[in-house]
Amino acid sequence: MKEVKNITVLGAGAMGATIASIAVEAGYTVTVRDIDTKFLDKGRQLITEGWDKRVKRGEITAEAKNELMGRLSFAVDIKDSVKNADMVIEAVPEIMDLKKKSGKRGLRTGAG
Ligand SMILES: NC(=O)c1ccc[n+]([C@@H]2O[C@H](COP(=O)([O-])OP(=O)(O)OC[C@H]3O[C@@H](n4cnc5c(N)ncnc54)[C@H](O)[C@@H]3O)[C@@H](O)[C@H]2O)c1
Repeated sequence: MKEVKNITVLGAGAMGATIASIAVEAGYTVTVRDIDTKFLDKGRQLITEGWDKRVKRGEITAEAKNELMGRLSFAVDIKDSVKNADMVIEAVPEIMDLKKKSGKRGLRTGAG
């Protein structure tokens, strides 16, 4: 099986942002995809606020935070978002049709 380096997370909500943050901290390069930039902005804020808190608490350095940011990107375009993905994790709303559609895009593992 191919080594997983790049992960795409579908959905930048509470779960998606948390999964993306943990995956970046675990060393993966992560792209978060949502349907509109306003949701991506919210997800980015959730993630960076978490890392800012960790910097304040002295758990990570500002340089380490920048390194984490460097492995995190955001996309609305579905094709762009999965073009380098070794694994796709879906964290979209609990609507079965939506989950099935997002699952067709790659090796699916889901938050719900
Ligand atoms: N929040 C939790 O504590 C929690 C816990 C366990 C499981 N879950 C499950 O995780 C999943 C996501 O929950 P959440 O709380 O993050 O929801 P959320 O509403 O906070 O976020 C969902 C995000 O998915 C986006 N989205 C909608 N359609 C999309 C698409 N086609 N492609 C990409 N993004 C799309 C929405 O715009 C939204 O930003 C659900 O299935 C939920 O049941 C959530």
